[in-house]
Amino acid sequence: MKIFRDPIALQQELKGLQSSIGFVPTMGALHLGHRTLIEEARRRNGTVVVSIFVNPTQFLEGEDLESYPRNEEADRRICELSGVDYLFYPSAERMYGQDDVYVGAPDVRGYVLEGASRAGHFDGVLTVVLKLFHIVTPTHAYFGKKDAQQLALIKQMVQDFFLHVNIVAVDTVRESDGLALSSRNLYLSDAERHEALKISYALKRATTMIAQGIRDTAVITREMHKIMGSLEVEYIAFVDNEFHELPQVEIDNTIILIAAKVGTTRLIDNIQL
Ligand code: PAF
Repeated sequence: MKIFRDPIALQQELKGLQSSIGFVPTMGALHLGHRTLIEEARRRNGTVVVSIFVNPTQFLEGEDLESYPRNEEADRRICELSGVDYLFYPSAERMYGQDDVYVGAPDVRGYVLEGASRAGHFDGVLTVVLKLFHIVTPTHAYFGKKDAQQLALIKQMVQDFFLHVNIVAVDTVRESDGLALSSRNLYLSDAERHEALKISYALKRATTMIAQGIRDTAVITREMHKIMGSLEVEYIAFVDNEFHELPQVEIDNTIILIAAKVGTTRLIDNIQL
């Protein structure tokens, strides 16, 4: 596995490759969810590139940029063992200047739900992903469905900017008890981890209600609030694949999303029908 820290050097290196390039952008603290993305990329591409960059522009003032888990050595070993060909580890100084050009998230889809709670977050995500795409020039890029809104916006950016990359969405990986894997789970104490299970339980309860024929999203939302009573719920939302709010569940066209705080840790999860 080759490690690059300089964007231009990596761009030069990858330019001449004949094989398809599978790219997994990450912020490190790699877990089984990331490994699943890497395995998927490995299966379908001649070359696999992983980037690890805790992107400062997607963190808002007061968020966990400084404390975000970083473990270069463990991440490097995971990449090596997973058969990654190139690990890209840039510094913030190489990725950003003083007075940069930014990508703006769309006014509607970029500013609801996560975008409403974290205004400007998706500008940072889209900006760094566009930069990474230009450096790596992947044929396929792999993203987890857990960040459903991020995934939708990246797909939109690819369309709107006529980028030559296939976005591959990979199912959320869960612990055996249902907790969605996230690097931020590392912040949870044992008691908080137990509390956090209410999030996936609420999603499961919603799907059971839907299987029983209930379609009214207000009714299902009330039940989900009851389950998550002790958490600080930021939103429960039923949206279609275009991220428009739904009053009634539409089978095959509904994503149920939750953002909630467990202690001081903000977690998100979703399920797609
Ligand atoms: O999902 C993430 O880890 C990040 O938002 C991403 C896509 C690597 C951009 O920094």
